[in-house]
Amino acid sequence: MKSRDERLREVYVWELPVRFYHWINALCILILCVTGFLIANPPAIMSGAEANFSYWFGIVRFIHFITAFVFLFNFMFRIYWGFVGNKYAGWRNYIPLTKAQWLEIFEVIKVDIMQIKNKPVESIGHNAMASVIYFGLFLAFLLQCLTGFGLYAQMSKAFLPQLFAWVVPLLGGDLLVRHIHHILMWFFILFTIVHVYLVCYHDYIERRGVTSSMIGGWKFIEEDVALEEEKEEREKAEAAIAKAKAKSKKKPAQ
Ligand code: HEM
Ligand code: HEM
Repeated sequence: MKSRDERLREVYVWELPVRFYHWINALCILILCVTGFLIANPPAIMSGAEANFSYWFGIVRFIHFITAFVFLFNFMFRIYWGFVGNKYAGWRNYIPLTKAQWLEIFEVIKVDIMQIKNKPVESIGHNAMASVIYFGLFLAFLLQCLTGFGLYAQMSKAFLPQLFAWVVPLLGGDLLVRHIHHILMWFFILFTIVHVYLVCYHDYIERRGVTSSMIGGWKFIEEDVALEEEKEEREKAEAAIAKAKAKSKKKPAQ
């Protein structure tokens, strides 16, 4: 049995809404890829059979559209949670605006991609590289919703799809929109393969319970990393209190 020398601390990283979001999203992607693939390659046309021998293809499309709505609302919920959730779920993690985030991205490139450094990057939430990739993925989700609902607006008079009626004319017609929508499916399939591989890889190398963290919410973090984070938080809180005090002193007495 393997054992490790460092002391580990349990840290609650992924709140229930983030975990729900993740698994609903993964399930939607699976259903949308399978039904989308069938829509792109209709078996009746591929095999030269009568297209109207049964209505099952209509059901495939219906499942695609229903799942599309779940996908959209789940995605919108995650954006909302980026503003109200804990610090690991916050939107600031996903957009590399600080020097520290860029330094961590270069660190991950050195360790995981170029393998010229042996010390794993010790972050508690997503590392900065993973976060920026998830941000790219969120943009791809947005584009998939725009093109999907843009196409759907041609078939449905309902209020929500009609909000996207401008997408197809803007992109110059149905053909390009379908191409973008189709290529994104392959991007999601590729992402999923690499994503699951990397999750298992990090789980095996770091042994901090990364995979199960998306089920139970907890990760096992090295004591010194957890202490460092606590120190940073304390300093931030003290700085905020000092700033508030200075502000209240400046205000003239009424
Ligand atoms: C069996 C399949 C999957 C497993 C085991 C899995 C596992 C995980 C784990 C453990 C994390 C957290 C990683 C970290 O700490 O950086 C994560 C994050 C994430 N995964 Fe997956 N995942 C799976 C499928 C998918 C699929 C299909 C998608 C969508 C294409 C997806 C999209 C994401 C996203 C967007 C995040 C970031 C979550 C957030 O911050 O809200 N995952 N996944
Ligand atoms: C992960 C997300 C999604 C994937 C992987 C996906 C995949 C696909 C694929 C591959 C096609 C066939 C395109 C072609 O080659 O003609 C398609 C068609 C379509 N998708 Fe999606 N899709 C997704 C999300 C959405 C969303 C959010 C909507 C919004 C309603 C949507 C609506 C449509 C529509 C209207 C069609 C055309 C149906 C038809 O012509 O019968 N899709 N989808």
